Amino acid sequence: MEVFGIKTDLIGIGDDMVEALERGMKESGLALEDGDILVVSESAVATWERRVINLEDVKPGRLACDLAARYSKDPRDMELILREADEIVGGIPGVVLTMNKGFLYPNAGIDHSNAPSGYVVLFPADPQRSASVIHDRLAQGKRIGVIVGDSRTHPLRLGCVGVALGCVGIEPVEDARGQMDLYGRPLMITRKAVADNLVSAAQIVMGEGDEGIPAAIIRNAPVRVEEGLKCEIPGIPPNECMYIGALRSGPHPYTGSYDKLIEEATNARENAYAPYSNFKVGAALLGKSGRIYSAGNIENASSGADICAERAAIAKAVASGEKEFEAVALIGDTPTPVSPCGICRQMLSEFGDDIKVIMVNLKGDAAMANITELLPGAFKGSFLKKQG
Ligand code: THU
Repeated sequence: MEVFGIKTDLIGIGDDMVEALERGMKESGLALEDGDILVVSESAVATWERRVINLEDVKPGRLACDLAARYSKDPRDMELILREADEIVGGIPGVVLTMNKGFLYPNAGIDHSNAPSGYVVLFPADPQRSASVIHDRLAQGKRIGVIVGDSRTHPLRLGCVGVALGCVGIEPVEDARGQMDLYGRPLMITRKAVADNLVSAAQIVMGEGDEGIPAAIIRNAPVRVEEGLKCEIPGIPPNECMYIGALRSGPHPYTGSYDKLIEEATNARENAYAPYSNFKVGAALLGKSGRIYSAGNIENASSGADICAERAAIAKAVASGEKEFEAVALIGDTPTPVSPCGICRQMLSEFGDDIKVIMVNLKGDAAMANITELLPGAFKGSFLKKQG
């Protein structure tokens, strides 16, 4: 296997990166051949896609300022992180760990390096699509693979390794289960991250700094390159990931993606019937269909008959034929974001492990958590033996 770096002129905002690669290849006497795999860095792709932001144009909101203080970050960076990320898993001073579109990365993949001064480079809009576009423009009848690559650190390891964000022409993950180990035992869980490994190989020649080598050609890799093969990079659901499973242990900061749901919960709180406790709660449940079901708590002179807002909302949804949910927002007048009671956690767990719970108080403090974080080890229907 051989790896050739492609040196190019500096790719500026909106410059045609593919043209720059073609020029770079020509100048170094390189040309793509059948079976070659081209690895392109995500920062070059994002710059080409104009995913570059002038920090002076970013006006941080209240949430961004609060989180910036908590994680010792520039509020403008935090504002961009909130716009980009689906979830902030946690953080340490200077960096937050975020999730977006199934990828886990620091600071939502927002990069200060390799960006003009005062600017930052965002994560490419759709790396899988970008890989396709690059492939279609460069293949010209040749059977080639294209990978958009990035770098990541592994927990407790110093230094970055390669990770593929999008690829065409190769199978990104090879299933080696069933193959025998050295002692003739079948491998049980081994899958080879072929695309990630190829990005690591390419990064040895690409570098991360001022080398001006945003891409590399890998030749004679022991990998099948197939015409027209388009595979999404496979991930694993957060609740099956050992790192996320070990990290997630309760509420984390709200990232601002469910403001409408919070508004509906706030409105529903007005209709709560709570003459005994005077503690009104509002809940709004977002179904996978996109419909929202909201309710307030409903109390009773016989307090055991009280129904919490969340369960009233679930009853409304299920009665309307909806049983799959993305998220629930709840609001109450509490010093810190209101937290659902145990019975409501159990009842939400019935309808999925991935339901996001957004917890808010009247001051606007907000937190979010996955239902499995709020009720680890919930009692599940699968525990019940089916009666014949
Ligand atoms: N309540 C809810 O509506 N949701 C919860 O998760 C906790 C408690 C209501 C029930 C009761 O009407 C009032 O708050 C005081 O316990």
